[in-house]
Amino acid sequence: MNDQLRRDRHALYERSVLDCVAQLETVDQLFRRRRARMPLTLGEDFCGTAAFSAAWVSSDPQRRAVAIDIDRATLAWAEQHHRAPLGDAATRLQLVCGDVREPRQNERLDLVVANNLSYCVFHDRATLRDYLRGACDALDAEGALVLDVHTGPDAQYVRQFHVEHPRFTYVWDQRSFDPLTHRRRCEIHFLFDDGDEMRAAFRYDWRLWSVPELSDLLLEVGFHDVEPHLVESTSAPARTGGIDAQETARSHGTAERPDSRAAAPRHPARGGDAPALESLYLYLVAWRSS
Ligand SMILES: C[S@@+](CC[C@H](N)C(=O)[O-])C[C@H]1O[C@@H](n2cnc3c(N)ncnc32)[C@H](O)[C@@H]1O
Repeated sequence: MNDQLRRDRHALYERSVLDCVAQLETVDQLFRRRRARMPLTLGEDFCGTAAFSAAWVSSDPQRRAVAIDIDRATLAWAEQHHRAPLGDAATRLQLVCGDVREPRQNERLDLVVANNLSYCVFHDRATLRDYLRGACDALDAEGALVLDVHTGPDAQYVRQFHVEHPRFTYVWDQRSFDPLTHRRRCEIHFLFDDGDEMRAAFRYDWRLWSVPELSDLLLEVGFHDVEPHLVESTSAPARTGGIDAQETARSHGTAERPDSRAAAPRHPARGGDAPALESLYLYLVAWRSS
């Protein structure tokens, strides 16, 4: 591993967490199945390094994306590593520094995505509802909002998942969970093979939202219906709850997992007869109209 990668938390994060190609294929298929056409316009909320938006505009010359993040330094990284290298296609990717709750200036969109549990930064219902209403208003009548969700008991346990990569280990550290408020604090660490480490490269202070809570809110702000879709990949932080992850239970928090070696089933809950699920990572797709 070169020194540059070793010092670059965004590059390490992207290698550990993101699978833009797989996600692009998934949302593309979901949209085509319902609308019988290719989605062209994307809003990437909480875009971070805007890797997904860059993959989007690269995937077809008709595609455009507006990527929003509140952190100027992260957007500067996005500009250097993803937007500028697009060349001519860069004109189809707009990076916006701002709060996703602010009114949007752009055209109505086919898709808005909020990846990697980012909306969990909103701890109270009213704030999340305002954000979801804004996302709904940003969509074309045929459009959809795609949120990812980590749920199941695993999401509440204090524990770590370790995922080995060539020359470094990615650690998803669920440090605390408060069952009264569903406040959840997590961190990402990177451990290098020579013993060096980058601890707390990313810190998250989140509210763990459940599927019924999210579905209720989505319908309340004007979406027509909400579809759950299981994500098979195990590359994202919460996704490492899958059977590929090596895991270590920790003992400094409120809800330690009793059996840290149980494998997570990979099928979605479908009602009363569903088997008990330890960890589930899914997309909720909220459509503006039938
Ligand atoms: C968990 S990261 C996810 C980044 C990216 N979506 C991904 O999949 O890797 C959350 C991002 O949301 C941004 N963020 C937090 N609150 C925000 C807000 N109110 N408006 C816009 N961006 C926000 C942070 O700066 C951070 O880059």
